[in-house]
Amino acid sequence: MHRTHTAGELRAQDEAKTVTIAGWAHAIRPHGAVTFIDVRDRYGVTQATVGEEFAALTKDLKRESVIKVTGTVKRKPTPNPRLATGEIEIVATGFEVLGPADPLPIEIGADNTDEIRLKYRYLDLRRPDMQHRLALRDRLAASFRENLRKMGFLEIETPLLVKSTPEGARDYVVPSRVHTGRFYALPQSPQIYKQLLMVAGCDRYFQLARCLRDEDLRADRQPEFTQVDIEMSFVEQEDVLAVGDILVHNVIQEVTGKNIGPLPRMTYQEAMDKYGCDKPDLRFGLPLIDVTYIVNSSEFKVFSEAPMTKAIVVPKSLVRKEIDSYTELVKSSKAKGLAFTNVKGGALDGGIAKFLTPEIQANLIQATGAGEGETILFIADKPKIVNDALAKLRNTLGRDLKLYDPEGLSFLWVVDFPLFEWDEDANDWTPAHHMFTMPKPECLQYLKSDPGKVIAQCYDLVLNGVEMASGSIRVHRPDIQRDIMHAMNIPEDEAKQKFGFLLEAFTYGAPPHGGFAIGFDRFCAMLEAESDIREYIAFPKNKSAECPMDGSPGFVSGKQLDELGISLKKL
Ligand code: AMO
Ligand code: AMP
Repeated sequence: MHRTHTAGELRAQDEAKTVTIAGWAHAIRPHGAVTFIDVRDRYGVTQATVGEEFAALTKDLKRESVIKVTGTVKRKPTPNPRLATGEIEIVATGFEVLGPADPLPIEIGADNTDEIRLKYRYLDLRRPDMQHRLALRDRLAASFRENLRKMGFLEIETPLLVKSTPEGARDYVVPSRVHTGRFYALPQSPQIYKQLLMVAGCDRYFQLARCLRDEDLRADRQPEFTQVDIEMSFVEQEDVLAVGDILVHNVIQEVTGKNIGPLPRMTYQEAMDKYGCDKPDLRFGLPLIDVTYIVNSSEFKVFSEAPMTKAIVVPKSLVRKEIDSYTELVKSSKAKGLAFTNVKGGALDGGIAKFLTPEIQANLIQATGAGEGETILFIADKPKIVNDALAKLRNTLGRDLKLYDPEGLSFLWVVDFPLFEWDEDANDWTPAHHMFTMPKPECLQYLKSDPGKVIAQCYDLVLNGVEMASGSIRVHRPDIQRDIMHAMNIPEDEAKQKFGFLLEAFTYGAPPHGGFAIGFDRFCAMLEAESDIREYIAFPKNKSAECPMDGSPGFVSGKQLDELGISLKKL
């Protein structure tokens, strides 16, 4: 038998038992005739005292070797309060090296570089922190599954080798050997398949689905990630949001014990007006205040010549150095500058105050609600630039001024997104979510005439300023789907070639349906206020989508390429 107990299990009441534990030699401390060895496994650390009779084995034993210790549980004369097993030790009567370790290439610890941690991921994962994260992920996955099952959802797997799915990123493609010259795509999400499951009468589907997207990576984006993917039939937006509310509430309560209460909602328009972005962090206030109507008559040309001026009130008086650094920040979002002034003695003082009449000053103080000793910051520009720059500044101010509890969880449903957004590069409308999103019934009339005006039955779930989930009520009527493709200038034959099978399915009896998908890696990370989702993925890729451990993406042999009918261009 390899073990009778784990290394986290033994307590004072086990005194005098004969036990066997096995694990990694976490620390080895020679002490005269005996050697103290801390044995570590997933469950904890237990100290073993190994006598001289095993000196031949312990003498050259390297840390992180896998060992097996049999012995008697003894109370320690001086307990170690830092260990759960700290009251006892095992006095060895048997000792074996099961898996010797060479000297490790790295010191296992949190401060290794990302690249080193990924190259030796199996060593990095030995850290208790990482074990904790994998266990948290497991508990969250189990809780999502159980709650969804209780609500009548069936877990159904969808294929990994698919026809291209339209989530808007680049596809990873897989060449077919049997059909030379043809390619599968790896799914960017199970979107089309889950809709087909609704046509198939499955009514309520879910899946912890792997999604693959060839896009530029960031801390909260990986080329492969997992969604809690959900779809339901015979539902309206309210029904879907209600499922989302219950699900998120229950999972968080079960796993963390926190009660997040009912999830608030805000329209896309309100989020943009008040916070400058569609994913506001509501752990703190600092709303943006549109003061265009106050300053457009001013002699200060920066304001009067710009289409929009918005202000933000900082609950303290910023010093020059801070203003300079925030100016640099907003310039990185294309703003031309950051105007400032302070409230002093009931009037504006310093910065741009000299350019503003007493009347405008009074109106600004009233509209912004700025108090004595506070700084007001302004950006004037096109609305997109004003909003982007101030939204970024707002998040930075929230963090710098410690305006929120970093452990707090602030959820928000953002609803009523526009159906389309204007794509400057393509000079065309593109779907804000995806093209299977149903417009609001009252907006159907604008689909052809004024696509920018169409509001969609589309919603995002935001947590602490991060997009956590996204979904919509879908188009189940082929005529509306055709109009949407038309608005996007997708020719009928191209639509047929890409999604013909879905459009055809809708002609054979499609129920109204909708759903959403939660970014599961983000969900895990955000619950512990971690911004890098790789901390919660066992084997993530680096920021160039490579795996430093196995060396992927790798080259394949000439024979493999021949079989696939592929020849590489000279690089
Ligand atoms: P969407 O593309 O918005 O919607 O994705 C849903 C959620 O998945 C997470 N996410 C990611 N997480 C890590 N790395 C990535 N590269 C990444 N991309 C997205 C986000 C996001 O909110 N089929 C639709 C859902 C639906 O309409 O039901 C979809 O995939 O948290
Ligand atoms: P200038 O007239 O360019 O010297 O700018 C006067 C002040 O207005 C400086 O503090 C600039 O940072 C600021 N400023 C310039 N352009 C803008 C703008 N578009 N929005 C807000 N502030 C600006």
